[in-house]
Amino acid sequence: MAGYQIQEKTPAFIHKNILSKGDGIQIDAIQLCHRDKVLDFLRSHYYLEEPLTIGSYPKEQDPEDEKFNMSQITHGTCLMALNEERIVGVLISGLKHSNEADHLFEDAARFGPTKWGTALKILACAERESNVYVRYNVLKALHIHILAVDAQLRGHTIGASLIEEIKKLGRHLGYPLLTLDCTSYYSAKLCERLHMDLVNVIKYDEYLDKEGKPIFKPPPPHQSLKTYATRL
Ligand code: COA
Repeated sequence: MAGYQIQEKTPAFIHKNILSKGDGIQIDAIQLCHRDKVLDFLRSHYYLEEPLTIGSYPKEQDPEDEKFNMSQITHGTCLMALNEERIVGVLISGLKHSNEADHLFEDAARFGPTKWGTALKILACAERESNVYVRYNVLKALHIHILAVDAQLRGHTIGASLIEEIKKLGRHLGYPLLTLDCTSYYSAKLCERLHMDLVNVIKYDEYLDKEGKPIFKPPPPHQSLKTYATRL
């Protein structure tokens, strides 16, 4: 694909592919050396608002959540939007296979009733119900785990640019499908605008514990976890 400096299996191989935007935003690959800066960004602009995180107790993110997302950097499919040297957006994504739902249910059982175990369980349900492998006849997909934009810079198409760029990269790497679990009203709206397919919806007020009470109670306007997919 034009524009990419290809060095297969090197996570940093798209480092030189800088997408310059008219408004001074550039998109670049996240490498291990950016880990601390990326984590600081997510602590300020993602976890404080992400509906599964703020919709369950304790309100703070589980360290296992951070550990999982940082472990995705080595896949080479994590991107950051930069304004000069400053991170203004982050997209974390990685490979998943057709047995992903089983793995998620196993991990959810392993972490039990912890915050991370509880989040994994609803993600496992979304994965099983959306069943994208049968729906699209594919064996693997690139899955977006995190999409976050600087709270001061929302509404400037940074989220959309990150998704468009991961689509190009995913296509280049041979992924047939891109998927995303939108826990937020705003990310779902963004996927609709990008004409992604809505493949599953789990309403928070219908996802209940054994006593019939909602497990996640995020503030309005967040009402459901919507899974979107698009062929690459
Ligand atoms: N709170 C309030 N308004 C928001 C918003 C938020 N979290 N996110 C977007 N908006 C508004 C924008 O200001 C814009 O308004 P406008 O049309 O009046 O200008 C509109 O929604 C469209 O914004 P858009 O460009 O689609 O969103 P974005 O790319 O700037 O940001 C997210 C989208 C999801 C990345 C961003 O909301 C975010 O980082 N949220 C926190 C982390 C999170 O929950 N991530 C999603 C988990 S799946």
